[in-house]
Amino acid sequence: SPLHPFSATIMAWYAEHQRELPWRQTRDPYAIWLSEIILQQTRVAQGLPYYERLLAAFPTVRDLAEAPEANLLRLWQGLGYYSRARNLQKAAQMIMRDFAGVFPQTYDEIIRLPGVGPYTAAAIASFAFNEAKAVVDGNVFRVLSRVFAVETDIASSAARGIFTELAQSLIPASDPAGFNQAIMEFGALQCTPSPDCSVCPLAIFCQSNLTKTVANFPVKSKK
Ligand code: ADE
Repeated sequence: SPLHPFSATIMAWYAEHQRELPWRQTRDPYAIWLSEIILQQTRVAQGLPYYERLLAAFPTVRDLAEAPEANLLRLWQGLGYYSRARNLQKAAQMIMRDFAGVFPQTYDEIIRLPGVGPYTAAAIASFAFNEAKAVVDGNVFRVLSRVFAVETDIASSAARGIFTELAQSLIPASDPAGFNQAIMEFGALQCTPSPDCSVCPLAIFCQSNLTKTVANFPVKSKK
C-alpha cells in the first residue's frame, strides 16, 4: 500500500530532525522497555542519566529480577512515582518465570506485564520487533488532532480508540518503528503546544493550519 502523504512527510522530517537518543540505537526490548517506563512521567533530559545508570546496574531482565529492591529504589531516587520501579521488577520476575527470561515478542503478550499499558506495549512491540502497532500518547493526540482537525475531546473515554484507529490507518507496513518514532518526535519538537507552523512541512495540508484554528486543537474539556 502506498505511503499516506502524512506518513511520508513526517518520516522525511524525522530523518532530518531526530535527536540521537540511546534507546533509539538498540533493538533490545528490555532496554527499550526500561526507557519507556522512565519516560512515562519524566522528560528526556531528566530521564537520560537514569536510563544509563539503571541499564549499567541491571543490564538484563535477570539482573533486574534478582536485584535487591533497595538497590533498584536507590537508583530510582529522584524520578518519583516509585510504583514504576516496583512494577518493573515485578514484570522482570514474571518474564523470568513465565517466559524463561526471554522478553515477550508480541503486543498482546507485552501488554500483560505490570506497568505496561497500550502506549508502552505499542512502543516496545514496534521499536524492538517492528510490529505494526501505532503508539498513541499526548504528542500523537496533538499532531493528529491538528492535522486532521479531529474534534474529539481528548479527555473523553472515546478518544483513545478514535486516535488509535486513525494512527493505525496511517502506520506503514514498510516501517512501523520509523513511523512511530517520527510521529512522537514530530509532536515533541515541531507540533508542540505552541508551534511555529511557518516552518512545518505539514502546513500545506494541515487542516487546522489551513483554517487558522491550530490553537483550538487538541480539544480538551475541563473535567
Ligand atoms: N518519550 C517517550 N518515549 C520516547 C522515545 N522513545 N523517544 C523520545 N521521547 C520519548
